[in-house]
Amino acid sequence: MNPLNIIILAAGKGTRMCSDRPKVLHALAGRPLLQHVLDTAATLAPQKICVVYGHGGDAVPQAMAQFDAAFALQEPQLGTGHAVQQALPQLADDGLALVLYGDVPLTQPATLRRLLDHSDALTLLTVNLDNPAGYGRIVRDANGRITRIVEEKDATPDERAIREVNTGILAAPTHLLRGWLQQLRNDNAQGEYYLTDIVAMAVAQGVEVRAVHPAHEWEVQGVNSRVQMAELERAWQGELAHRLMTQGVALIDPARIDIRGTLTCGRDVEIDVGCIFEGDVTLGDNVKIGAYSIVRDSRIAAATRIEPYSHIEQADIGANCRIGPYARLRPGTALGDEVHVGNFVEVKNSNIAAHSKANHLSYIGDADIGSRVNIGAGTITCNYDGANKHRTVIEDDVFVGSDTQIVAPVTIKKGATIGAGSTITRDTPEDALTLSRSKQMSIPGWVRPVKGKKKD
Ligand code: UD1
Ligand code: MG
Repeated sequence: MNPLNIIILAAGKGTRMCSDRPKVLHALAGRPLLQHVLDTAATLAPQKICVVYGHGGDAVPQAMAQFDAAFALQEPQLGTGHAVQQALPQLADDGLALVLYGDVPLTQPATLRRLLDHSDALTLLTVNLDNPAGYGRIVRDANGRITRIVEEKDATPDERAIREVNTGILAAPTHLLRGWLQQLRNDNAQGEYYLTDIVAMAVAQGVEVRAVHPAHEWEVQGVNSRVQMAELERAWQGELAHRLMTQGVALIDPARIDIRGTLTCGRDVEIDVGCIFEGDVTLGDNVKIGAYSIVRDSRIAAATRIEPYSHIEQADIGANCRIGPYARLRPGTALGDEVHVGNFVEVKNSNIAAHSKANHLSYIGDADIGSRVNIGAGTITCNYDGANKHRTVIEDDVFVGSDTQIVAPVTIKKGATIGAGSTITRDTPEDALTLSRSKQMSIPGWVRPVKGKKKD
């Protein structure tokens, strides 16, 4: 295959976002617009990716530093042709150059591959729109061959009636692109160097100009305002929901799910309304996610049920567990099979082994809990002394009575029972009842105070 160089235009100002942040750094589905484009570009195995940046200074290269991409500064911004010119010195002459826009996040790899089919043509990604306003129009001759692109501001009324528009995304042999860009002039309505002028140059030179179309309109939709951002977000979420359902996931309402990352599901997974999935989430067979739950970077094994309003982050949850409603599993939570974590229970950086239960109102932090342990309502691991965190160890078959405070570092040995209301500060022996509780007393004949009469 021909070497591929990808140029991503991202220098524009994004005035209509009304934001201090460069437009391409605003997030769609949890990732900056530009990151979507970079991720897609990477799937095409290019020799080089060069991002043209300008507005917002170093914010763009800094935010994208983890990507294998080069950057070219465009200052001032004199148009799309001028932008591509800034990248060219960094690109080798052989092979194809693909121009993408940093604010058009959802073009799919399959569509771009069709753009790269011909190694000696100029290929444009075009689309027919009911309302072509604002776009450059594709002008064709009587034989249907593309002759040029005319920008709306330079177009005649007849040309404005054309519904086939330029998406801006194109591919061409790099050495030809270089030659054309050297000839660009800015004698047009906007006084800019238009990348689109290369089309007429290619035609004059006898280079084939062809058009391919995207499979979906959202693939070529750009973001100029927060309204367009929200519309594109919905379109993309609809697509992701559709893909999940096609794979067999039951979504109670495909319009009420948000996926900001990668959601991988087994068979017969069911997801109720209002759930948000962030980062990498894997759900095993028959998992059920209750309404309005948020799951981030977590793995949930087969047949586990997450009840509504649960928050789960960086957790590894075994099979057949019952979590929530209103459970909070924080980073470093690892649950074995058939664990129950109930309402208003918070777990952080803790392991809870199979068949253990914490059903009500507890905080379990920095703890290692064995199997078949029962944590009574209101139990708290006191893991923090104001300076350091300490671990609590609770061995197999322990029963912790309600409202117990366990002051770490401490170990509750196998089979121990802790009486309700205890404050445990020292290790407790195996199979014994341990409790720390002030003695109950009663004062006979004690008289309850009565309220005095109010003065007028
Ligand atoms: C451009 C096309 C138009 C097409 C439309 C699709 C030209 C002359 N026109 O118009 O045919 O229908 O896109 O949306 O190419 N950019 C830079 N530096 C610049 C100018 C722009 O990096 O100096 C970047 C922007 O950040 C953006 C992209 O190029 O990502 C397009 O710029 P924009 O100003 O939106 O171009 P349009 O005038 O909309
Ligand atoms: Mg535009």
